Amino acid sequence: MTVAEPAGHDRRPDLSGPDALRCTGLRYYFGSTRAVDGVDLEVRPGEVFGLLGPNGAGKTTAIRAITTLLPVPPGMVEVFGHDCARERMAVRRLLGYVPQQLSADSGLTGRENVALFARVFDVPRRERAARVAAALAAVGLTESADRLAGTYSGGMVRRLELAQALVSAPRLLILDEPTIGLDPIARTSVWEHITRVRVATGMTVLVTTHYMDEAEQNCDRVALMHRGRIRAVGSPEELRAGLVRARRSTGAATDGPPTAPTLEDVFRHYAGSGLDGRESTEDGGDFRDVRRTRRTASRVG
Ligand SMILES: Nc1ncnc2c1ncn2[C@@H]1O[C@H](COP(=O)(O)OP(=O)(O)OP(=O)(O)O)[C@@H](O)[C@H]1O
Ligand SMILES: [Mg+2]
Repeated sequence: MTVAEPAGHDRRPDLSGPDALRCTGLRYYFGSTRAVDGVDLEVRPGEVFGLLGPNGAGKTTAIRAITTLLPVPPGMVEVFGHDCARERMAVRRLLGYVPQQLSADSGLTGRENVALFARVFDVPRRERAARVAAALAAVGLTESADRLAGTYSGGMVRRLELAQALVSAPRLLILDEPTIGLDPIARTSVWEHITRVRVATGMTVLVTTHYMDEAEQNCDRVALMHRGRIRAVGSPEELRAGLVRARRSTGAATDGPPTAPTLEDVFRHYAGSGLDGRESTEDGGDFRDVRRTRRTASRVG
């Protein structure tokens, strides 16, 4: 595979170099809303890192700060050792970003959409056609490349957006809810393409999702975010094992046969609510349902 493969990019995680991402006390407030309220986070080169949290947790705001789209003071965010405030352009050159909102133009073909990103991200003119074709091939859109994006299914649109982000050969790919609103087959397909490119290039992936099964299957480590703060970080196995220990120490697991906790249980333990935003009451019921359905049209346009 040639797509998204930066020259000289080591395919193995380089743990001796700087972190792919380091957030130190990252804060971002909208007036009195503390959207991100003191986040410390390290993402290692080559890993797939999941940022999990319910609606309004602050995931998108954190990501927009990391991608330099929201201004933050120096010292709060570094990408491969480059400060997001002081070295904005250097950071941007290292990043690929698939935003939560639609970023493909329904009036252009798939190929034209990706070519637009190749121009914006300064892919050298003589390499552009080949790089665009390789990015489209990497997400399985070669056959549909010359159709208008407005005729694509929701899953194809998400893969097109992935191609747009990959065409500049990012070292850190950031995906904000890449599979929300997609059916299970389309979700699996998006992840298969992400994984294939990641294995081929060694790029680091930071992804937000509400889907626990996706985090379990695809993330090396996850951070559980709630109300602007990180409540726990670790591999899914570590987090589940930590909850088993916590239950044992409080005697909570002594009644009945032991049940293996899920990531959702871990989240509930640290945040007092589930990833769907439902908060537990004393009788185990729910008093709030803030789950909003993303206005993801099944088709663009
Ligand atoms: N442009 C804005 N102006 C004012 N408040 C905002 C703005 N963007 C986000 N917020 C608020 O900041 C908080 C965090 O929002 P954010 O979109 O970062 O959460 P999220 O975890 O990405 O949620 P979702 O899962 O719904 O995408 C919320 O309370 C939200 O209402
Ligand atoms: Mg969001």
